[in-house]
Amino acid sequence: MVRQLIRLACLMILNVKFLFRYSNQPKAFFEALAYITASIHSAMQSFHVDPDIALAQTLSKEFYTSHHLFEACKEKLFARSWQFIGSTDLAKKTGDIYPLTLLPGYLDEPLVLTHDKTGVVHLLANVCTHRGNIIADHACATSHLRCKYHGRVFQLDGKFLSMPEFKEVKNFPSNIDDLKQLSVFRWGKWLFTSLNNQENAAVFLQEMMQRLHWLPVHEFEFHPELSKDFVVKAHWALYCENYLEGFHIPFVHAGLNAVIDFGNYSTELFKWSNLQLGIAKDDEDCFDLPKDSIDAGKKVAAYYFFVFPNMMFNFYPWGLSVNIVQPISLHETKVSFLTYIWNESKYNTGAGSGLDKVEMEDEEVVENVQKGIRSRFYQHGRYSVTREQGTHHFHRMIGEWIGKEVDR
Ligand code: FES
Ligand SMILES: [Fe+2]
Repeated sequence: MVRQLIRLACLMILNVKFLFRYSNQPKAFFEALAYITASIHSAMQSFHVDPDIALAQTLSKEFYTSHHLFEACKEKLFARSWQFIGSTDLAKKTGDIYPLTLLPGYLDEPLVLTHDKTGVVHLLANVCTHRGNIIADHACATSHLRCKYHGRVFQLDGKFLSMPEFKEVKNFPSNIDDLKQLSVFRWGKWLFTSLNNQENAAVFLQEMMQRLHWLPVHEFEFHPELSKDFVVKAHWALYCENYLEGFHIPFVHAGLNAVIDFGNYSTELFKWSNLQLGIAKDDEDCFDLPKDSIDAGKKVAAYYFFVFPNMMFNFYPWGLSVNIVQPISLHETKVSFLTYIWNESKYNTGAGSGLDKVEMEDEEVVENVQKGIRSRFYQHGRYSVTREQGTHHFHRMIGEWIGKEVDR
């Protein structure tokens, strides 16, 4: 609270100085005033969530209704976090390139995955350093990247190689003529990147990797025919919150409730991720855990890992369903379900069966919350201490990240 007030006071002093500059230009003055009003409004909204879940209130509803905050989440949450790109199979062989857009319609960052002749996989900005043209527009095998606009050529590691009609240009080429190379973190075949990585990827992913160290993740095969996108008419964070508590299972998912032992359902919190452990009921399908797993002896039906701010990794005895939550607007979210199979004979059994039905049940309730949260009569909620630790953790992370300044 004190920090918030100091920030507000500084903002007001700076803003008066800023406005003074435009005092004799009416149009610019009013534009500056509108900008300042928006920034003070955002500074006044506290998204601090009490660390004591028994005392805490949920995020203010403004988080779900403000365009300004929806935009702010781009740089403050999404660009700073680690995002799932796919698997190394996208650029499997030497010379393979694979263009992709990171969170299309939101971060909308054009990138290209390349596999150079030394066997290294790179993730590069897919934007020519001459005039910003998109370089690669389809996946193919090639020895270099050539921009189709004026012919600038780059190596597959992003280094500038050649450019016609540029002999006379002084101090050229330099580092800024190379394609920006992004950090890539790899777990098994899966690749992750961050546009503005300020924290090591391991801080986001290590608990999942350690907990499942015994899984042969290299053997997981992507099945595009079993993968699909869902469009949900709700704010992205409402979709995540619903995922983060098993509280609603008996009320919303009769099928899942029949195979999961609700009494033994548990949540574990880590720094930027958390785990919900689904225990199988009676003789329902569960993992055959090795002795060196810390869960050995438990009948684990599913590991539901959430990695902040928008990734879900659902491990079942048959393999993995990755859910990537992609904001589209304040009212719309795309969720990509990517299916990786490890043990085909167990596919569609136990907690990992009927996932489409579970998704429809979740969408219905999340879309209802989207309608309700806008009500004049709703502002905050409270948390169940025993059943909503994941949602509380998610809100705490949002509050912390939204309050942070962004270094570019
Ligand atoms: S924009 Fe790529 S060569 Fe001009
Ligand atoms: Fe659900």
